[in-house]
Amino acid sequence: MSDTAPALNVSDGTPLDLLGTRRSVLAAQLAAPGPSPGELDRMLDIAVRVPDHGRLAPWRLQVLGPAAQAELGEIFVEEFREIEPDASDGRIELERVRPRRSPVLVIVSSRTVPDRDGVPPVEQLLSCGNVCFNLLNAATAMGYGAQWVTNWCAYNDRVKAALGIPPGEHLVGYIHIGTPKNPPAERRRPETADVVTRIESLSEIG
Ligand SMILES: Cc1cc2nc3c(=O)[nH]c(=O)nc-3n(C[C@H](O)[C@H](O)[C@H](O)COP(=O)(O)O)c2cc1C
Repeated sequence: MSDTAPALNVSDGTPLDLLGTRRSVLAAQLAAPGPSPGELDRMLDIAVRVPDHGRLAPWRLQVLGPAAQAELGEIFVEEFREIEPDASDGRIELERVRPRRSPVLVIVSSRTVPDRDGVPPVEQLLSCGNVCFNLLNAATAMGYGAQWVTNWCAYNDRVKAALGIPPGEHLVGYIHIGTPKNPPAERRRPETADVVTRIESLSEIG
């Protein structure tokens, strides 16, 4: 991490501890400095090291520089005014700054191909979700905070078109990365036992 960035104290450095304690930091809580260009390159390399059935690489990542983040905010404003003509000035302003809440914004979108060699589009989309998550992991491991968000602007055709995301593909995540203003509080997690079943014989089911 860059010299000036305070470390996010979520891990004692072991991989297991990182995985066991990682959590998101709200985009609004992410300030400068962001990762250096070299750090970001490393995060992106890690992000695309995901399970990918058939090696289709069915995902694309776009790193938006500050000017592009600001331009995207103006598109959000124009589009949101269409969706909610009565939106308050405050809400419009929120849309304007939405893409530039963090110093770094990475947009992850799908590039699926029709079912080929037993790799249906849903699997390709899942791989794309893994890219988002691995980017969070990489950012956290390097001492930064990150959050995966979507909101209305992930599902809006004009926003997608402005980003060059083809119709029919998904804008899977806006990944915000920066230095946490404050360490994130822990979040309540499901009890593992509530969601895991150990099965000795299928006759137990039903
Ligand atoms: C696909 C997806 C979309 C999400 N979109 C949003 C969002 O728009 N706004 C938001 O506050 N959290 C959103 N979240 C939730 C956060 O990214 C995150 O899961 C949550 O803040 C806590 O997660 P943690 O376990 O990483 O701490 C989304 C999560 C996923 C998986």
